[in-house]
Amino acid sequence: MAGRLPIDTSSLSQDHAPVELDLSKFLYEAIDASKFIDVNRWSPFFDEIPVDPYVRDGYRYKSIAWFRVKHAMAAPINAIDEHIATVNGLSGMSSAQSNRYLSISPASWQSDETGYSCWNLPQYALQQSIKYNPVHGDMRREYPRINNSITDSLDFYKLLDYYAAFFRWSDAIVLVQFQRVDCFTDRVGLPAVEGFHQDGNRHVGMLVVDRNNITDDSGVSQYVMDDQGKKTDTLVFNSVISPGQLIFWNDKRVWHYGTELKVADSRVNGGRGTRDIIILSAKTPPANMPIGPVPERFRDWGQAAT
Ligand SMILES: [Fe+2]
Repeated sequence: MAGRLPIDTSSLSQDHAPVELDLSKFLYEAIDASKFIDVNRWSPFFDEIPVDPYVRDGYRYKSIAWFRVKHAMAAPINAIDEHIATVNGLSGMSSAQSNRYLSISPASWQSDETGYSCWNLPQYALQQSIKYNPVHGDMRREYPRINNSITDSLDFYKLLDYYAAFFRWSDAIVLVQFQRVDCFTDRVGLPAVEGFHQDGNRHVGMLVVDRNNITDDSGVSQYVMDDQGKKTDTLVFNSVISPGQLIFWNDKRVWHYGTELKVADSRVNGGRGTRDIIILSAKTPPANMPIGPVPERFRDWGQAAT
């Protein structure tokens, strides 16, 4: 699956800083990601994602990872370095350990094609502003890490690179969430617990990895237009995103939802249906930086440093 990204990268190079995509003209765009990454190889790893303890009915499974993605020629956003250093300090890291995650240190991966660099960050807790998630509020949520064999892979970095190259930002923190929602014959699964919503990002990417034993009208992605911070009833997107497809949307201009999951065939897969997705969301200060200190059980940077 090696090969160049399916995007016009002529405006991107290692020699000059990117010019950000004009978001005032952007609603959503779907792309066939299977042209440049093999999502089938990631599918088995969704079986090992533990249940999300913060969803009461137990139909969601989630693991996460944090990255910083910055263009080599763009000046670092100081507030990002300061934010990372602060949370690293709160997590009990020494300054020497913390510095390894700042823009002054070498990146984990660099793209020769686009000029973007990626730093693989510690396992920060998710601490979302109450403004955007009334269900989970400002609670600190701890999630385990996405399997390292995925986050260390070339395909994974190409996905981050593609997200950055599509929006052409200068510097951002990217939260990656691997998420499964399941259903049984006597229990539906809810991809969006809170109904139509926004997450407080500027833009979001969703890559569908697998749909297994769910009906064709399950997990339909729907967007309605925003009107100055309020949801409208103007439906602008209403389709199933197939496995291998990636969709980007403007989280300021549309509200998103995924319809409930229902089992297609009760005799298959023990009567269980699943939908596996990857959510990518870039964060640039001062907007929504939902990063909390690394939970103690994930404070393994001492070994990682050797
Ligand atoms: Fe969302």
